[in-house]
This record gives sequence, C-alpha cells and structure tokens, in this order.
Amino acid sequence: MLLAIETSCDETAVAVLDLDKAMTAGARTEDFLIADVISSQVELHEKYGGVVPELAAREHVLNLPILVRQTLNESGVSIEQLRAVAVTRGPGLKGCLLVGMCFAKALAFSREIPLLALNHMEGHIFAGELVEPEERPELPVLALVVSGGHSMLVHMTDFRNYRIVAKTRDDAAGEAFDKAATLMDLPYPGGPSLARLAAEGDPLRYRFPVGVAQDPESFSFSGLKTAVGRTISGIGDEVKDPQVLRDMAASVESAIVEALSLKTLAACKMFRPRTLLLVGGVAANRSLRKALMEGAAAQGIKFCVPPQRWCTDNAAMMGLLGVKTIERRLDSYSNWSTKQNGLLGPDVSLDVGVLPRWPLDKLFVQ
Ligand code: KG4
Ligand code: ZN
Repeated sequence: MLLAIETSCDETAVAVLDLDKAMTAGARTEDFLIADVISSQVELHEKYGGVVPELAAREHVLNLPILVRQTLNESGVSIEQLRAVAVTRGPGLKGCLLVGMCFAKALAFSREIPLLALNHMEGHIFAGELVEPEERPELPVLALVVSGGHSMLVHMTDFRNYRIVAKTRDDAAGEAFDKAATLMDLPYPGGPSLARLAAEGDPLRYRFPVGVAQDPESFSFSGLKTAVGRTISGIGDEVKDPQVLRDMAASVESAIVEALSLKTLAACKMFRPRTLLLVGGVAANRSLRKALMEGAAAQGIKFCVPPQRWCTDNAAMMGLLGVKTIERRLDSYSNWSTKQNGLLGPDVSLDVGVLPRWPLDKLFVQ
C-alpha cells in the first residue's frame, strides 16, 4: 500500500492506494484507490475572504495526524502494510508544505519506507488518470491546469517530459473568478458563486477585456479585475439589481473562458496532441468545459476531464503520481531505494526540503 499526503494549500488530504493493483494495466480507479479523504478549511478562511497561510498551516498540524489515523482505520490498512509514502513537496504555501513533508518524513523514517516528494502541478495532471480506463489521456497530452493558484498550459510528450506552453503573467484563472466575485460582493469562495449566477445572465451585456489575446504564451487576468471594478463604480447602486449581477457574472465568466479556450485551442492546432486534458479547481466551470469539449471535438482531439473531486486539491492524484514514479523508476529528486524488493530499502535519506516555487519544467534541477 502507498500512503499519499497533500497539504500544499487549504485542504488536508490523505489517500491510500494499492500499489500492485494500481500498476496493473487497465485497472479501474475504485479497484486501486482504497481510501481518499479530503478535509477542507473553507469555513476557517471564509471570514477573511481568502486563505490565510499561517492559519492553514496550523490547521494542517491539527488535522493531518487525525486524518491519517482515521483513513487507515476506516480502510482496514495497517501502518505495517505501507510500502511507500508520497507527499507534496511544492509548489504551495511554505508552512503548509512543511507540515505534510515533516509528517511524511517521520513516517518514512520510522517505517523505513521510501519517501516520494512530489510536484503538486504534476499531481494535478495525473488526476487525468482517475477516470474509466478507456477515457484516460493518451500521449501526447496538452493539459490546461487552472486553479486558484495556477493557470498554465502544459505539453506532455512523455512521463516527466513537460513543456510549459503558456502561463499566467499575473492572476490565476480561479483567482480572477474569486476577485471579480469579491468586487461584486458574492459569497466566498467566489468562483462557484459567480458561475452559478452566470448561468442565468447575458454574457454580452458588459464587455470585459480578454487578457493578452495576442500573446500565445501568456494568460493575464489583472486587466479584467480592473475593468470589473471600474464598471461597478460606474453603475453605483444598480449593482444590487439581481439581473445586473447575473449579467455581470456571465460577462466575467465569458471573458475568462474565452481567454483560456482561445489559447488552449490555438495550442491544440499547433501541437496536435491526442488528448486535451482539463484539470484544477476551475475545471468545475461548465462554460469552460463546454468550450474546450466542443473545440477539441472540432479538431478530432480526445477531451478528458476528471470528476470534480479530483480536479480540486486531493491526495489521490499525488498517490497516483507516486505509483507512476515507482513504476517508471525515474525519480531523481526523491529518495526511494532499489536495494530491497526492487524498491523498498532501509537507506532512506530524508534530506529534501519543501519547494514553495517549483516549476514543472524544472523538476530535476533542484
Ligand atoms: O484547485 P483548487 O481547489 O485550489 C487551488 O489549488 O487553488 O481551485 C480552486 C479555485 C478557486 O479559485 C475557485 O473559485 C475556482 O477554483 N472554482 C471555480 C468554479 N469552481 C471552483 N471557478 C469558476 N467556476 C467554477 N464553477
Ligand atoms: Zn492545486
């Protein structure tokens, strides 16, 4: 069994995966994912209107040991059965990453099992595998990773072979949804609230800028935030009118979706991937899914989006990345050993630190 831990932001998440089953070709997710628990801190951060890093880290300290014990108990897996531990090393909030890393190191040290210290963005991409076997991404893959913290388009030609095709210059796509929602005084977290309103609004009522439409290598959403702020000050009390709010939400959503889908579909034309993969919290957005699904279909490209549970931060995706790492034995930045049973050795060196910034295209330079 492999234990996976994710604490890079405001979700404490733990998963248990059956290594043998996960390495069997065509295995279904429910066969190898033994446990998958996520404890969200949304309520804790709600009154501040955003994640407070120090509070998030303290909450992980309290939650993680309880969550691990509970997950093992409920899944009937003993600590002796664990053959490896996978953990998020970065990118993310430093204090939050440290909690997960220190816990995982202690566990690896005490059990003399390998520690896999993994990249969170790469984990998001591997969430694409948590679908029915026939729906899984086929290489080469173009992945749009869009969350509250990141917006990037990644071309993957093989495992651990990534090229960042486009990334954000300023705000992430989820952050753009959240900031616009805050300006509109919508409940936290803003993205889902805004998307709900947008479903009944007129996207043509307000014209918001589609960030750096000309530059294929960048996303930019800060201009949108400014434009929304200016529009709200311009219309005064009218912003309280429910239809105005709905139309404004629809217009904001349409500008973000257009920016993301324009660049993604243009990159599809250029790179001709076999699969277009959509992951990260913003993958919940229906208009974005629709635009990409239709655009991919028009180009004869397979479209893949995992269930929402695995689009947002979770430990199952980190676990699956751990499995792939062991399977390929390609990992130069973690410390599993090949001395015993092919992969389990007692010479676990634990001198890896967290990497709050850790670009996907620089996996091996640390
Ligand atoms: O991946 P995630 O759970 O956390 C991060 O690692 O950031 O992504 C959360 C982000 C938030 O910004 C949230 O507002 C956004 O995803 N989000 C949405 C929707 N659901 C969540 N944005 C637009 N439409 C949605 N339906
Ligand atoms: Zn994430």
